[in-house]
Amino acid sequence: MKRSDVSGFYKKSPDERWKIVREFGELEAAEIETIRNTGALRFEQVDRMIENVVGAMPIPLGIAVNFRINGRDYLIPMAIEEPSVVAAASNAARMARERGGFTTSGTGPIMLGQIQLVGVPDPQGARMTILAHRDEILSLANEKDPMLVKLGGGAKDVEVRIVDTKRGPMVVTHLVVDCRDAMGANAVNTMAEAIAPHIERWTGGRVYLRIISNLAVRRLVRARAVFAKEVLATDELKGEEVVDGILEAFAFADADPFRCATHNKGIMNGVDAVVVATGNDWRAIEAGAHAYAAWKSDGYRSLSAWEKDANGDLVGTIELPMPVGLVGGATAVHPTAKANVRLLGVKSAQELGEVIAAVGLAQNFAALRALATEGIQRGHMSLHARNIAATAGATDSEVDQVAEALVKERKVRMDRAKEVLAELRGKKKS
Ligand code: MEV
Repeated sequence: MKRSDVSGFYKKSPDERWKIVREFGELEAAEIETIRNTGALRFEQVDRMIENVVGAMPIPLGIAVNFRINGRDYLIPMAIEEPSVVAAASNAARMARERGGFTTSGTGPIMLGQIQLVGVPDPQGARMTILAHRDEILSLANEKDPMLVKLGGGAKDVEVRIVDTKRGPMVVTHLVVDCRDAMGANAVNTMAEAIAPHIERWTGGRVYLRIISNLAVRRLVRARAVFAKEVLATDELKGEEVVDGILEAFAFADADPFRCATHNKGIMNGVDAVVVATGNDWRAIEAGAHAYAAWKSDGYRSLSAWEKDANGDLVGTIELPMPVGLVGGATAVHPTAKANVRLLGVKSAQELGEVIAAVGLAQNFAALRALATEGIQRGHMSLHARNIAATAGATDSEVDQVAEALVKERKVRMDRAKEVLAELRGKKKS
């Protein structure tokens, strides 16, 4: 039996790691070559980024065009494996330009660190004790990151909540930290850990968790765009009808969590692609977005809202947490992420977050417009067909021809792709 308990894997040389992986997976030499190809990164760089490294996993990087945000034009890098997303964002941004593009705003880069205190008989009393030490807590926290303080950030406030749990009331201190251009997890976690022993000493309780909260309700970004009804018209439907269709789609999502999960997923298609392209932590953004969608009102709701203005045009808005950074983390070391940030030309993490909100809104618009009109499949199919054609073995010069035939026949399937490819090659020979 093959065993996965490889002792000291992290200490082994890259050659030894590849050998282990190759033997375990019974991989071909070519497969190992593919895995170890680190693209724009040197092996030493990836080896420093995470543990037990054997290679890199490239995903396509596309550029969304047409974005005008707060009167400025942006080319937006999007890293994503899903076809149609970049095209849909670009198309939506083109339609938004008609009424000036996107306007955005944000709350500023405030994150919350949580310190969980248990075992106090008088939670209300403990709360008061902690709050009485506010200034001391802030200076203890800020001692941990003088650089952040110098830049105008740092711990700014202390809040204490009592949370009723299965194991009784817990006294949860929130350290309110301005993270400036950092995502902030390292700074906030270090501060929370530094404060914890003092909280124990003052209250006589026991601290367990000391960690940032991904429900970043003080680090929100917002975007708004107006879509002129005339530009929304399709071959079959008038602009007014498309507006109404999108309003029906939004109402459905906002009322039904089964639909809303997919609706918000469409938003995150755009959001995550830019988050990944800029080397940011997309899991933090995902967790924060969905938690916020549930926290902001009763039940799980849409991150966006769609309305009709007095002119009958479609107005879209979005608001979601956006803890992205420009310093620290992969953004500062990954060469592709660095180049992408330069291409964006953003001057602050806040500006990056607002750009991402605009992309999320554009993505949502594109999905709703497609869903409320011809359906999502037609647009998806041509790109999907190219993937199927390539997987069926079509070479670069054959892919387009095979894909075209599949779409025309409305049979975007592997078996048919293989047949079409064989026919094509047969024709070429004869
Ligand atoms: C697919 O990745 C995203 C959509 O399902 C979003 C939506 O349904 O709104 C098209």
